[in-house]
Amino acid sequence: MNVLVTGGAGFIGSNFIYYMLEKYPKYRIVCFDLLTYAGNLETLEEAMDNPNFRFVKGDIANREEIFNLFEEEKFDIVVNFAAESHVDRSIENPGIFLRTNVFGTQVLMDACRKYGIKRYHQVSTDEVYGDLPLDRPDLFFTEESPIHTSSPYSASKASADLLVLSYYRTFKLPVTISRCSNNYGPYHFPEKLIPLMISRALNDQPLPVYGKGENVRDWLYVEDHCSAIDLIIHKGTEGEVYNVGGHNERTNLEVVKTILKELGKPDSLITFVTDRPGHDLRYAIDPSKIQRELGWKPQVKFDEGIRMTIKWYLQNSKWWQNIINGEYSSYYEKMYGNRQVIAG
Ligand code: NAD
Ligand code: DAU
Repeated sequence: MNVLVTGGAGFIGSNFIYYMLEKYPKYRIVCFDLLTYAGNLETLEEAMDNPNFRFVKGDIANREEIFNLFEEEKFDIVVNFAAESHVDRSIENPGIFLRTNVFGTQVLMDACRKYGIKRYHQVSTDEVYGDLPLDRPDLFFTEESPIHTSSPYSASKASADLLVLSYYRTFKLPVTISRCSNNYGPYHFPEKLIPLMISRALNDQPLPVYGKGENVRDWLYVEDHCSAIDLIIHKGTEGEVYNVGGHNERTNLEVVKTILKELGKPDSLITFVTDRPGHDLRYAIDPSKIQRELGWKPQVKFDEGIRMTIKWYLQNSKWWQNIINGEYSSYYEKMYGNRQVIAG
C-alpha cells in the first residue's frame, strides 16, 4: 500500500505516521506538508531514516504540486490531515482557512479522481456540529446531528465535509470522513489548551483561561484517534461518516487544575481572561457507530493520558522550547496582549 498523509508534520498527522510505520512495516508512507507555523520537521526526525517514508514539502491547495506528486506516486490511500486548525487564528484571519481547508480538499480529491485511489479519507472534527448546552449532559453528537458551525474554522471544516460527500455522490469517489473530538498527546502545538498550559506552567507564567473556564471538551488521546482512522481506511464503508470520541468530558478549568496538580504548581497561576468570541460551550461525541460497526475501542482514559502527555513534555522540552522561543513568541503577545484579565 502506498499511503499519502497530508499535514503529517503537524500534531495528529505525525502521530499517525509513526503509528502506521510501526503497524504496517510494508506500507510506504508519503508525507506532504507545507510546513506552516504548525508544521515541524523536527517532529518527523525519527521517520526520516525509514526507507518506507518520504517527506515532500508542498501546498495541498497548489494544483500543480499535488498533480505532479500523484503523477509520480501511485497512491492507494489518501488521508487528509492538512489544515489550518486553530479556532483563535480563524477568528483573526478566516481567509487562509478557506483556502487550505476547503480548496485544498478539492484539489486533493480532483487528483484522486484523475489518478484513481482506493480510499480518500477526510480528517474532520466534532466542531462541525456546533455545541451542546452545558445543562443537558444527556445530549451527544451523533453522525445525524445537524451541521451547525460557530467559527470560521469549523465552517471551513464543515464546507470541506460537504464537498467530500458531494464527490462521493456525484463522482463515486471512495471517501470516508471521521469527526473526532479534542485530541491531546505528544507533538501538540503549544497554542492549544493542554500544551499551552503545560509549557506556561513549567515556566511559572500565568495560565489564560477563557471566560469562567466552564466550557467542556471531550478529550481523546491522539493514539486512539490514529487507531480509529486506521480502522476506517481499511474497513470503513465508502460514503460514511464516523464520529470518534472516548467519553472523557472535562471543563477547561478541571483540565488546567489537573495539569497544575500533576506538575506541583499552584492554582494561583490561573488567570481568567476575556472569552473567545462565539465560544462553543460543550462538545460530546457519541462514538457508538464506529464501536458497533468497526469494533473500535479507545484504550487511554484521560487521567492516564494526561500523565503520559505531561511526561512527554517534560522529557521533550527542547521540542516545545524551540517553538515558543521562535516566531511563536510574538504570537502570544498578539493574541493575548489585548485580552482583559477578569480575575486571577
Ligand atoms: P496541526 O495544526 O497541528 O497540523 C496541521 C498540519 O497541516 C501542519 O503540519 C501544517 O504545516 C500542515 N498544513 C497546513 N496548511 C497546509 C497546506 N496548505 N498544505 C499542506 N500542509 C498544510 O493540526 P492537528 O491538530 O494535527 O489537526 C490535523 C487535522 O485533524 C486537521 O484537519 C484538524 O481539523 C483535524 N482535527 C484536529 C483535532 C484536534 O484536537 N487537534 C480534533 C479533530 C480533528
Ligand atoms: O474538537 C476538535 C477541535 O479541538 C479541533 O477540530 C481543533 O482543531 C482543535 O484546535 C480543538 O479546538 P478547541 O477550540 O476546542 O481547542 P483549543 O485547545 O483551542 O481550546 C480548548 C478549550 O480551551 C476551548 O474551550 C478554549 C479554551 N482555551 C483555549 C486556549 C488556547 C482557553 O481557555 N485558553 C486558551 O488559551
